[in-house]
Amino acid sequence: MTALLQVEAIDVGYGHVGVLENVSLTVDQGSIVALVGSNGAGKSTLLRAISGLLRPRRGRIVFAGTDLAGAPPNRVVDAGILHVAEGRRLFRQQSVDDNLELGLYGARIARSNVAARYARVFELFPVLAERRRSRAGVLSGGQQQMLAIAQALMREPRLLMLDEPSLGLAPIIVDQVLEVLLRLRDGGTTILLVEQMVERALEIADFGFVLQNGRLIGQGPAAELARSDIVTSAYVGAKQHN
Ligand SMILES: Nc1ncnc2c1ncn2[C@@H]1O[C@H](COP(=O)(O)OP(=O)(O)OP(=O)(O)O)[C@@H](O)[C@H]1O
Ligand SMILES: [Mg+2]
Repeated sequence: MTALLQVEAIDVGYGHVGVLENVSLTVDQGSIVALVGSNGAGKSTLLRAISGLLRPRRGRIVFAGTDLAGAPPNRVVDAGILHVAEGRRLFRQQSVDDNLELGLYGARIARSNVAARYARVFELFPVLAERRRSRAGVLSGGQQQMLAIAQALMREPRLLMLDEPSLGLAPIIVDQVLEVLLRLRDGGTTILLVEQMVERALEIADFGFVLQNGRLIGQGPAAELARSDIVTSAYVGAKQHN
């Protein structure tokens, strides 16, 4: 297995407040890696550091051989890392088609390839094809999540990072979204998945990492982690946040 992403001993925080301490993690090319841990563990903070929204105070974030720690978000995107943030940030007044087009903003791709990219995301999410002209704001929660993922896929990322894609979705929609992640992985896209539905995440993942209070407390093949009590202890042993 070749590592596509290697996070090496990073410290990350907000202002003077430290959150992540000495966190290291590897994501192999072509795998799904699940990152789990209780509320406030630092999962979103880790994704923000990888995507260039937060600058690590220490450590390296090596992607395809290049250290991206401290690089601006646009450079991280150009390198091939796409982050679907918590809460599906869409242009609610714009149509599905326009949101997909906006996913290509600033991308250097030939006009002739754009149609193929639309076709690919519509093949993955047929329901979006039926709603091409609808405003994003009137879609169901599940369709909005699909659109947020599809928007990222328009750039054909090498690494797709998802922050709690199942949040607020009906179980059958969660199944559909996870199914798409498996198809993407099988097509060669590498995935880093933050998920509160831990069992579901570990079902589709190849490998998993467990964060607790800003530190990594466990890692292993997903099937092994699912059976171990590290995951439970991460939830039971965490500091309480309100
Ligand atoms: N913008 C911010 N400014 C200051 N502190 C923040 C900010 N965002 C998060 N934090 C703090 O950083 C810590 C980690 O938060 P983070 O959102 O990364 O956790 P998480 O694992 O994603 O949790 P959740 O499961 O609730 O999404 C928490 O203590 C949180 O209060
Ligand atoms: Mg979070």
